Amino acid sequence: MNKREKTIVTLPGDGIGSIVLEEALRVLDRAGFSANYVEGDIGWEYWRREGNPLPERTISLLEKHRIGLFGAITSKPKEEAAAELDPALQEKGLVYSSPIVGLRQHFNLDICIRPCRTYKGNPLNFIRRGRDGKIEEPEIDVVIFRQNTEGLYGGVEWSNPPDLVYRALASHPKFVKNFGNTPREELSVSTRIFTRKATERILRAAFDYAKKYGYRSVTVCEKPNVIRETSGMMYAMARQLQASDYPGIELWNTNIDAQMMWLTKNPETYGVIVAGNMFGDIVSDGFAGLIGGLGFACSANLGEGIALFEPTHGSAPKYAGYPVSIVNPVAMIESACMMLDHLGEEQTAGRIRQAIAAVIQEGKVRTYDMMKLPGSSDVSKKGAASTRQITDAIIQHL
Ligand code: NAI
Ligand code: MG
Repeated sequence: MNKREKTIVTLPGDGIGSIVLEEALRVLDRAGFSANYVEGDIGWEYWRREGNPLPERTISLLEKHRIGLFGAITSKPKEEAAAELDPALQEKGLVYSSPIVGLRQHFNLDICIRPCRTYKGNPLNFIRRGRDGKIEEPEIDVVIFRQNTEGLYGGVEWSNPPDLVYRALASHPKFVKNFGNTPREELSVSTRIFTRKATERILRAAFDYAKKYGYRSVTVCEKPNVIRETSGMMYAMARQLQASDYPGIELWNTNIDAQMMWLTKNPETYGVIVAGNMFGDIVSDGFAGLIGGLGFACSANLGEGIALFEPTHGSAPKYAGYPVSIVNPVAMIESACMMLDHLGEEQTAGRIRQAIAAVIQEGKVRTYDMMKLPGSSDVSKKGAASTRQITDAIIQHL
């Protein structure tokens, strides 16, 4: 182990997670990036064998090295998960919970960055009819900043809320008016809690990024006219921050519903977009769909002094067991590029992105998703490249 080199915790996980991660590491290596890698145990195997998909030793590794490159995991509903436990562990009351959500919470990875950029020549690019009736292919360069730990995914929720909660709710005139006649056991309540601290962190991250990379605008994509307290607070804070610290960047304000409509009308207009947890999840999947979908959607999760990079897709179990893997490794390789940016290795990241761009533009090597084929083990007969072949092509262009 080279002491001067950065140590990166690799977390292959389940299904195609380990397949695409291996390819990303190959690209990093061939691009001349060297680091020490230590592998962390995470995912379904560890749930079944140990009753914990996120063993303590994995948390310790990340605590020590503070940077992780993650493939994907498999999650299953509670009952199914319990049934698959090692017989010796059953009936012990173990409850499955997603290890990636666990990591985000444990390390307070509150800033999620999801870039969505068009690669020229990608057959999956969004196209639309222009004013003159001709087909247009807008070039999208949008980076979504999603608050990753609070809001609707904060987990503070009840069905048939207990006394204290019910009384608190009943102290709000709107509750009395709209829900006062509903029997308590028929109520389900999920809260949407925003804190000033986390809101400021996600806003600053978005503005700093816009400033660093020369984006003209930051758009707050929420619903402040209706969700007045949380969305309203985020937008008001954004206005203050923009005025005091980022006068060179325009602040725009869109509503999530309208934003999804404008997605197909003028996606190229937007630059950096910032939103709470749920709306950030929605708007990032929306934009990812315009640039090729899950095979292209990468992400970073950042906390204070800690970072975890991962493709947006899951473990795609139906494609995991193929003798020759067919899935698209670009989302994972792009996630590794985000890691390089984070480590200050932006030149290397840039070279890898150029190599990906060249392969896509040439159009000779395309995975099944890029050919719009249904996934199956014989897509190679129809001309689709394997996971390895497209990675090789990327490496050749470095
Ligand atoms: P998924 O993202 O694994 O796959 C959905 C579909 O997208 C696949 O069937 C495939 O057609 C396509 N796809 C995904 N990745 C691709 C790639 N790299 N190249 C080409 N096509 C690709 O989502 P799904 O099927 O809903 O979930 C499967 C498992 O993954 C579940 O257990 C779920 O809980 C888990 N999951 C894990 C995530 C994570 O680790 N961050 C995120 C989403 C789901
Ligand atoms: Mg999502």
